[in-house]
Amino acid sequence: MPLNRVLEEIIAISQKLATKERFEHMLRVADWADRIARSHGFRDDRLKLAAFSHDMFRDVKPEVLLKLARFYKLENKWYYFSRPVLLHGPVAAEYIRRRFNVDEEVYEAVYYHTSGAPGIGVIGKILTIADVVEQSRDFPQVEELRKVALNSSLDNAYGEVLKQKTLYALESKLLILPETTEAWNEYVERGGSYGGKAQN
Ligand SMILES: [Fe+2]
Ligand SMILES: [Fe+2]
Repeated sequence: MPLNRVLEEIIAISQKLATKERFEHMLRVADWADRIARSHGFRDDRLKLAAFSHDMFRDVKPEVLLKLARFYKLENKWYYFSRPVLLHGPVAAEYIRRRFNVDEEVYEAVYYHTSGAPGIGVIGKILTIADVVEQSRDFPQVEELRKVALNSSLDNAYGEVLKQKTLYALESKLLILPETTEAWNEYVERGGSYGGKAQN
């Protein structure tokens, strides 16, 4: 199926499964993904596939997410049982791969958009950043993060977003997902902004 047909179908399914507000969020994520990509001289229509499917299952009931996860034989993580909402990315990734045969990069972008992950590709980095900085997001550091997203390297912007996710989790007493920490450690090891400094 050509990419534009896949996109049309993904948009239709997202409109059906997600609330109006959530769908509007996906529109803004697609817009910010495009802005970030352009500012880095990158264009790829697969970004739209990722943006319009990432929260496709975000408003689906917890018991349905758990059922789908079992059906898809997703890896069992203990925190899925207490917080099934964390399955919305992995379930969406499985769904679009099985139905539309999307490639590995789109699959992992959608799968890991909440947590981030080490070794993630360009689509995944841009989606995760756009999800955090899209126009309606409102937290103290968001303007600064938007500047970083548009003007700094993608790796650096991804690192800053991982930092923001971790700080937010600490401040709000939320789980820090293991993949977020793994991605952060990879960023530091590769010499992100914090690399090379002595750790006391
Ligand atoms: Fe999400
Ligand atoms: Fe989102």
